[in-house]
Amino acid sequence: MGAAQSVVRMRSPRADDLQQAAPLVRLVGRQGLAWVTNVPNGVNGDGHMTTRNDWTVDACAIAPEDHVLEIGCGRGVAVELVCAKLTTGKVVAIDRSAKMIALAEQRNRDAVASGKASFRTGEFQDAEFDGERYDKIFAVNVNVFWVRNPVTEMSVIRSLLNPGGVFFLGYEPPAGRVAEITERLLKNMADFKVSVVAGAPHLVGLKISI
Ligand SMILES: C[S@@+](CC[C@H](N)C(=O)[O-])C[C@H]1O[C@@H](n2cnc3c(N)ncnc32)[C@H](O)[C@@H]1O
Repeated sequence: MGAAQSVVRMRSPRADDLQQAAPLVRLVGRQGLAWVTNVPNGVNGDGHMTTRNDWTVDACAIAPEDHVLEIGCGRGVAVELVCAKLTTGKVVAIDRSAKMIALAEQRNRDAVASGKASFRTGEFQDAEFDGERYDKIFAVNVNVFWVRNPVTEMSVIRSLLNPGGVFFLGYEPPAGRVAEITERLLKNMADFKVSVVAGAPHLVGLKISI
């Protein structure tokens, strides 16, 4: 698995990156538990802002052979991005909405047919994963991790990670709530080693080693 790989789009921080990261550095200072890590470029090659799914999948640094789990996959946008990075690896995605899973399966029908992607319907914390373990687990815009202390959910995630595996969270908060949601996440993740992914001013990203 690719745990040692650095997050993609690494480059030297520019003045505007450092300015953007300043509030996060202050938060980290108060928490004393997390640090600001990579500074991925928040702008696509064509000059558009990176979407939350692109950004989170990039932060996951998916290796071709990784075994990946997405929690709350919605319509399967991120699964499609993950599949493009996998060769021998596989991605499993779960969502409690059968309607979303049907849309995600349709969107990723070729990957489902080849066995690269598979989908499950249900609450991830109650699901049976039949002893499967994952190198990367991620969730995008799944609110439970910031709205309350997700003790049960984090325990389940720990049980599903391979040794050295990492959990990633990505959010696209409503305007003006990036700092607040980052602070709440850091508080809820206080028991874990956390790094804040900086670089896209409209998004929140956390890399969590459990
Ligand atoms: C706001 S949507 C985000 C969808 C997608 N990740 C995205 O960013 O486009 C949150 C999704 O997470 C799913 N979800 C929330 N909590 C969940 C849980 N405990 N187990 C499984 N799915 C969950 C919801 O059904 C919903 O489809």
